[in-house]
Amino acid sequence: MSRLLGIRIKNYRALANVKIGQVQYARGEPLPPLACFIGPNGSGKSTLLDAFGFIADCLLEGVEAACDKPLRGGFDRLRTQGAKGPIEFEIFFDLGDPARPIVYELHVDKVKSVPAVTLETLRQRRVGETRGKPYYFLKLRKGQGKVWAGAAVAVKRESKDAERVNLADGNRLGITTLGNLSQHPRIVQFRTYVEQWYLSYFVPEAARALPAVGAQRYLDRQGSNVGNVLQYIQRQHADQFSKLLKQLTTSIPGLKKITPEPSKDGRLLLKFDEAGYVDPFYQQSMSDGTLKMLAYSVLLTDPEPRPFIGIEEPENGLYIKLVEHLAAQLRSHATSKSNPTQVLVTTHSPYFVDALSPEQVWVIKKNPRGHADVVRVADIPKVKELVDGGLPLGSLWYSNHLDERSTQ
Ligand SMILES: Nc1ncnc2c1ncn2[C@@H]1O[C@H](COP(=O)(O)OP(=O)(O)OP(=O)(O)O)[C@@H](O)[C@H]1O
Ligand SMILES: [Mg+2]
Repeated sequence: MSRLLGIRIKNYRALANVKIGQVQYARGEPLPPLACFIGPNGSGKSTLLDAFGFIADCLLEGVEAACDKPLRGGFDRLRTQGAKGPIEFEIFFDLGDPARPIVYELHVDKVKSVPAVTLETLRQRRVGETRGKPYYFLKLRKGQGKVWAGAAVAVKRESKDAERVNLADGNRLGITTLGNLSQHPRIVQFRTYVEQWYLSYFVPEAARALPAVGAQRYLDRQGSNVGNVLQYIQRQHADQFSKLLKQLTTSIPGLKKITPEPSKDGRLLLKFDEAGYVDPFYQQSMSDGTLKMLAYSVLLTDPEPRPFIGIEEPENGLYIKLVEHLAAQLRSHATSKSNPTQVLVTTHSPYFVDALSPEQVWVIKKNPRGHADVVRVADIPKVKELVDGGLPLGSLWYSNHLDERSTQ
């Protein structure tokens, strides 16, 4: 199973230079299956999750389109104010071989006033090696460079078996182009991994729309096709569907049943049966929190789960008792033996954080230069002892115990 070990980000808005998890080859502590980011308003939490969205958008739509998404507003607004160099990302991940993690590095800069990929590399240890430095199997500068083919190249020297690459379009990533070619299975695997990331930008209004009838496999980012995915689960995975209903009906008081139902004009209605009422309600009448819980439940009962999910402030609109329950649900999903999904969340809720351990939480704060500093709670002096002594992490946060800077 693929897993994100760590990320280094430079010059991406307030994230002028941050490192989270394992950011040295096969050294350091990897990100846990559930990682949560807290911190004051404007500290860079959403920016961190959006960094993953940005990389995925670069892959799917090209660098320029990724920069110009309405929420990002173009390259000049994305690069850390005052910074001169490229926006840089370095992702450490494991595609099922922990001794040989893979490192993907991407630099985006302006070339002749247009955003373009200026550096892109993929590195990994050679087959059979459990020690030593990683070797390049993709190395491109401004679209020019080399790629080493195969899944398990045991080359003696880097130059062997290399193929020249010359990408004419500086807007496209090398992994987009080469990830279509069967002679580059590792690149295909990485491309597929990034394509499967799910960043939730759930909008209750979008979930109230009436989509056309038809089962759909994947939930979109805003949750506008939640009914279609529910229909898919109902048809293809009846067991999962009943499990999902059971979870929801226990979480939301009065809710008895949800049924996807086609209307006469070919729209998909979601019928909500509630205690005390003869007639059902449809999605337009349902509350924000109910729709949000439905979307999360659909996401978490995915029969073929995503390897990575990012969720912003999942507590918004949820009843406080549900928040801790949701945190526990996300944690058990992230650590499930059969189908683990790595989950990254941002939150303002101490109730959410109460369900987590110091190894699962990071504090993001701005330093006097306006740049984000990121500290893992487990590295803040005394916090672990207090938690071990029985104090919940959320209460420690609320009582300013997470404000101290790590001495490491
Ligand atoms: N180009 C940039 N360079 C430096 N800092 C930037 C840049 N663009 C935005 N910022 C800073 O990033 C902040 C927004 O960060 P972000 O939205 O990630 O905060 P957040 O932690 O999610 O806050 P909230 O809790 O309010 O959602 C802005 O308020 C601004 O201070
Ligand atoms: Mg935010």
